[in-house]
Amino acid sequence: MDTITQPRNLPLLATPETCAGRTYIVTGANTGLGLEAARHLATLGAAKVILGVRNLASGEAAKRDIDNSTGTGAAVVEVWPLDLCSYDNVRAFVRRAADELDRIDAVIENAAVALSERELAEGHVKPVTVNVLSTFLMAALLLPVMREKAGKVARGEGDLVVVPRIVVVGSRVAFDESTGARVDWEGIKEDPIKGLDDEGMVPFKTYALTKLMEAFAIRHLARELVPVEKTGVIVNLICPGVCVTSLMRNSPPELKGVVTHLYATVARTAEDGSRTLLHGAVAGPESHGKLLHSCQDGEPDVPDWVKDDTKMQARTWEVIANELELVEPGCVAKMLECA
Ligand SMILES: NC(=O)c1ccc[n+]([C@@H]2O[C@H](COP(=O)([O-])OP(=O)(O)OC[C@H]3O[C@@H](n4cnc5c(N)ncnc54)[C@H](OP(=O)(O)O)[C@@H]3O)[C@@H](O)[C@H]2O)c1
Repeated sequence: MDTITQPRNLPLLATPETCAGRTYIVTGANTGLGLEAARHLATLGAAKVILGVRNLASGEAAKRDIDNSTGTGAAVVEVWPLDLCSYDNVRAFVRRAADELDRIDAVIENAAVALSERELAEGHVKPVTVNVLSTFLMAALLLPVMREKAGKVARGEGDLVVVPRIVVVGSRVAFDESTGARVDWEGIKEDPIKGLDDEGMVPFKTYALTKLMEAFAIRHLARELVPVEKTGVIVNLICPGVCVTSLMRNSPPELKGVVTHLYATVARTAEDGSRTLLHGAVAGPESHGKLLHSCQDGEPDVPDWVKDDTKMQARTWEVIANELELVEPGCVAKMLECA
């Protein structure tokens, strides 16, 4: 961890040309990176920015903060309830998006948890439910909605074309040898959900391992969703780098010193880090299935044991997809229909 270096003052690759008049969903947007990404989108002239939050009071405070700091009209930012600990909640959120939004240009799937206690939701440890299963459930349910709306927009005269993007916020901590995630993965790789749910798993280790699951799964999912020219959909993974946020509020005491040190030395502000989320939301087909970080191609930093192991990518996606099928039968096939 001491060897981490990362550029700061990142470029803002999203512009009024790429964002004005568009509609965005940002999950976990009441604080941290999600809040700052939503603020940028409002500033850049987005027509609608939906803050998906589990705590409505905190979401409303975030909206007031964005409204006041950007001077955008009160109608641009909306606060919608979204608790990724509940599949019903994810379903209700997607239904509302289908009913109320004319277009969805990008969904930034940013919400995540890192916990040092074993807590369950929907029968799994929370990091699995929140960071992986609900994140991919939302992608599976939203993707057909986004495509349908994009088609309708394309048939309208003079409208801005929609290229739906699903941006999953991951983390290179998954590849960091010092976290031990690679070694831990060896023990659970046949069935990572079962392995992470096991009572013997050290709770805080699940964070990096769920981020590894995302990294493997996205690569396979993107291969299923090709060619981009036909599907019209871009799915990418971004890593914001080390940023000062409240993410590590539940970290175990032995990690607090490391986190404090990183925050005092190399960390980006949440605003700086949020620029990587915006990059994902406007990146082109070249980003499909790829890692972006520091507002550039992040592929050189994906280790070969992740990049080249297509069997592991397929297996990880299969384990996730099996669970999604139990939750919402037919959703995976429907998601892949466009390919
Ligand atoms: N900060 C970093 O150094 C860093 C590095 C690499 C990757 N990341 C990734 O960046 C993303 C954003 O994290 P952050 O650093 O901005 O942390 P953060 O400030 O803790 O924000 C996390 C967000 O996720 C929300 N969330 C947690 N559980 C949820 C649930 N069940 N349903 C809905 N929302 C939920 C939180 O809501 P509450 O406020 O209600 O808890 C909060 O809005 C995460 O995916 C994280 O893994 C961060």
